[in-house]
Amino acid sequence: MIKSRYEKSNTYLNRALKVIPLGSQTFSKSITQYPYGVSPLFIEKGEGALVWDIDGNQYVDFVNALLCVNLGYRYKKVDEAVVKQLSERGVSFSLPHRIETLVAEKIVELVPCAEKVRFGKNGTDATSAAIRLSRAYTRREHVAVCGYHGWQDWYIGSTTKNEGVPHSTRKLTHKFEFNNIESLEKIFSESNGEIAAVILEPMNVSYPKDNFLQKVKDLCVKNGAVLVFDETITGFRFSRGGAQELFGVIPDLTTLGKGMGNGYPISAICGKSEIMNKMEDIFFSGTFGGETLSLVASYETLKIIQEENVPEKIKELGLYLIDKLESLIKELKLGEVFSVSGHPVWSFLVIKDYKAYTNLEIKSFLMQEMFKRGILSIGTHNLSYSHRREHVDSLIEAYRGAFFELSKGLNGDDLMKFFNGKVLEPLFKVR
Ligand SMILES: Cc1ncc(COP(=O)(O)O)c(C=O)c1O
Repeated sequence: MIKSRYEKSNTYLNRALKVIPLGSQTFSKSITQYPYGVSPLFIEKGEGALVWDIDGNQYVDFVNALLCVNLGYRYKKVDEAVVKQLSERGVSFSLPHRIETLVAEKIVELVPCAEKVRFGKNGTDATSAAIRLSRAYTRREHVAVCGYHGWQDWYIGSTTKNEGVPHSTRKLTHKFEFNNIESLEKIFSESNGEIAAVILEPMNVSYPKDNFLQKVKDLCVKNGAVLVFDETITGFRFSRGGAQELFGVIPDLTTLGKGMGNGYPISAICGKSEIMNKMEDIFFSGTFGGETLSLVASYETLKIIQEENVPEKIKELGLYLIDKLESLIKELKLGEVFSVSGHPVWSFLVIKDYKAYTNLEIKSFLMQEMFKRGILSIGTHNLSYSHRREHVDSLIEAYRGAFFELSKGLNGDDLMKFFNGKVLEPLFKVR
């Protein structure tokens, strides 16, 4: 029998599953997202834009730790600052450390809406704090949501993965559609003045159209609701001041996360003083909120982003990537199956159902072929400051090979005959 390229991954999964449900701490890193049998399942190490799986296979990583490694793996200046803090000062203390103020000041400098800042660990800490704060500030309970905002009850209750969330909580959250202002107007008109906050990702797959973000803001002002931009991903990525700076619409509050610590666990909520001051009345507090290694990492990361205008450099590479990929799709006449969407720093390969095949079958096959060719991607191109043109060229070459194999299957033989794993299953969709 031929030895699988992922033998150690597959074996280790069995071991992990005995003690860890799903074998992963993060849904998007689990076998729900990586077709079993044709995917690497565990990472050994990373450097720059590269990672190695536990079987020793090397990949150019376009998942980029789910967009939290903005600068690249093991970025020297960041890690040196962390090691210095660790070896000369310490990690967690009995009183706040000055680094909290330094990072807060940096965020106030960079993010247009930020006058005051508090820290958390995951993005969910920040979004959940924003909702509690908005509820306390407005003395209302309902919220309108658009995009993905984390695992807590107030948000996840509005998705299909809502088991365990009380009905009473679910009833308070209302979903609206991006670029569909009428869907938000409807929520306001039916809410009887009860909307405390409108929270949305200012952009994910699609650009805001027809002044959408400004219209959302106008509705919030008119109805006395707090406007929260969830910039967990777009913050420090779409521009140094995030999507709000790029699109020129300033919210009341902003939540930040992935982009701010180059992989160290830190998130933040920031915004207008008038609202942020209400933090003193609500309860938002955690033992590790002021943990210094992540704060030091964040300070260094934000300094580099600010001084070297990292978002602009990543964008240039992203434009190169999109141009090459769109040309390839055209050249191979695959426009009915694939298109490219999103901002250059976080672009998406959109896959449609085609002939007898579902988009999940096509996606699973494509992943098998991309992984084989040394590219780690789950359908998006999450660029870091360590990606270079040569990495993008490798991506395009891998797509060329994978698309070629796919075309053979799509247009002739049974595609699934050449797929050796478990097809991805439909999951709850948040974007
Ligand atoms: C826009 C957005 N908000 C919130 C979150 C939740 O962040 P975390 O997973 O760090 O709790 C995510 C995570 O993917 C996100 O993309």
